[in-house]
Amino acid sequence: MNGFDSDDLPIARPHGPSLARLNAERMGRREMMTGLLAGTAGAAVAGLAPGALLAATRDSSTLTFRSPKHAIGDDHAVAPGHAGQVLIRWGDPVLAGAPAFDVTKQDAAAQGAQFGYNNDFMAFMPLPRGSNASDHGLLCVSHEYTMAELMWPGLTVQTRAEKVTRAQADVEIAAHGHSILEIKKSGAAWAVVPGSRFARRLTGGTEMRLSGPAAGHARLKTKADPSGTKVLGTFNNCAGGVTPWGTVLIAEENINTYFGGEPAMTDEAANHKRMGLSACSRYGWWRHHDRFNVEKEPGEPNRFGWIVEFDPYDPNSVPVKRTALGRFKHEGATCAVLRDGRVVVYSGDDQAGEYLYRFVSEGRFDSANPAGVRDLLDKGTLSVAKFKAGGTMEWRPLVFGQGPLTAANGFAGPADVLIETRRAADLVGATPMDRPEDVEPSPRSGRVYVALTGNSTRKADATDAANPRGPNAFGHIVELIPPGAETEGATAADARHDAERFRWNVLLMAGDPKNPAHGAQYHARQAEEGVWLASPDNVAFDEKGRLWISTDQGSAQAKNNIPDGMYACDLEGPGRGLVKFFYGCPRGAEMCGPAFTPDNRTLFVAVQHPGEGSTYDAPSTRWPDFKAGVPPRPAVVALTRKDNGKIGS
Ligand code: FEO
Ligand code: CA
Ligand code: CA
Repeated sequence: MNGFDSDDLPIARPHGPSLARLNAERMGRREMMTGLLAGTAGAAVAGLAPGALLAATRDSSTLTFRSPKHAIGDDHAVAPGHAGQVLIRWGDPVLAGAPAFDVTKQDAAAQGAQFGYNNDFMAFMPLPRGSNASDHGLLCVSHEYTMAELMWPGLTVQTRAEKVTRAQADVEIAAHGHSILEIKKSGAAWAVVPGSRFARRLTGGTEMRLSGPAAGHARLKTKADPSGTKVLGTFNNCAGGVTPWGTVLIAEENINTYFGGEPAMTDEAANHKRMGLSACSRYGWWRHHDRFNVEKEPGEPNRFGWIVEFDPYDPNSVPVKRTALGRFKHEGATCAVLRDGRVVVYSGDDQAGEYLYRFVSEGRFDSANPAGVRDLLDKGTLSVAKFKAGGTMEWRPLVFGQGPLTAANGFAGPADVLIETRRAADLVGATPMDRPEDVEPSPRSGRVYVALTGNSTRKADATDAANPRGPNAFGHIVELIPPGAETEGATAADARHDAERFRWNVLLMAGDPKNPAHGAQYHARQAEEGVWLASPDNVAFDEKGRLWISTDQGSAQAKNNIPDGMYACDLEGPGRGLVKFFYGCPRGAEMCGPAFTPDNRTLFVAVQHPGEGSTYDAPSTRWPDFKAGVPPRPAVVALTRKDNGKIGS
């Protein structure tokens, strides 16, 4: 999700760190470059390929595909020799008995049984459970948000919140959440299995349970739920993750946009302000449903902004909001298992100047008994990242009673620290980042990749080693190196993700390497490649441990004049940081949800908000239907090689 919701604007911090401390932490541009180089040198010392970032080598990438045309178009662009099959679009049937899509006859009941809007995170979960099947599985797809101006005639971005009817609001609520699809490949073609017993829709009205330390707290109670443990729905699910025990984690990101009324009039005024709530709701649902009116239900926003866990293999399971992982604009949640079985979850808070988080479970995962895991994510320690110059960083715990997280600062107990995670992180001196999007540990090397999508508000004199460009119009990718993962050839199991201190590098600074004004940094040969990327968002790894990067430039897409899409690069060897372009989204769309099948022969991608910036009445593309009267539709595309080889080979 991008610019419309001002992710790029930092939130004022009424209780933020002192200016003196911030100034002490800020470095000038010269020192910034020193820090960047020091990060690289640090990596060399630590055993990574010397000069990893600024390599002078002439060698090339291990990725063998050729790039499609790197230009914005009405249609998507697939690498030569590959096929891009549209698997499912907004409005297509998911549940048995769902009506076929008819844009002129939308209603909440139909939408609640059909594929939702703005597909984002995806997970391919093999069938049978626990297998490595690559031609049969569940495709789990989040629906991040809706765009009334592209769903109905007569609406614009400016008028939608005011004009949306109750019937339309109810369609929008039903178009949120998640879809679970059973899919099968026969020959070269993927298809959704109609009427599958696994098929499920989670919507903005699905009952969910709150668990963990904040569940049942007074600040989570509403008139409809005096227990503070039962919530209706999930909203703005952006990226996500899969647990080692085969459940799916989805992340509630820009939850502030759903609420109307004046937050300053409530007892939660400071908290709501810190989460970005304002009287100006993006949706206007609050005029039709009291729970979205903060003046009537000041606790309702506190029931969103969490990580939600559900079991995709059990269509009757109740999704659970895991409060131990903190409340902020969660971009995603990705897991690693420590040697002793404890589980680590990484998550970014996607807003300019927000933070990077890590959770370490108290309990242990037993791979011999994966079904024995129930509530592992309810107990553990949440920490936040503090980056330092010279390529080091530390994790600072957010534990009630420790350091500044006490009653003196307004925290009455552990629940307050979790409900107001951002404020707790401010107080322990976390490093404000340039919009942390996806954060993923490599299942091959154990190093962790942090996509920072950019921050146009960062001032040139307010850069730091880990956010070295101000303003940062193009974003960058930071590589975290836990102890044990320093050397090339280390395996993921060696990585001590629970350590207090890590090392880090900048993998790349996005932008056009041919334009010195961009300050881009890639592999030395990037300019010869003829492609570049901006605003890295989601990341995924192929079986060889290479990094696949999806991008979301938001409203900068037209200005940058390059498509959003899938890009990929090596992380080790002479091609490290040499980015290739694999797939281009149609005009206006961002790229989400890259998910490989275990055999790497299919890459599922989610095309989100095609035609953004235009309206139903005058769409800038009609992808993927290209039929008069049918607006652009967010859709999932299955990318395969025409010779059935492995993607990227
Ligand atoms: Fe929903 Fe941070 O992109
Ligand atoms: Ca995004
Ligand atoms: Ca995203």
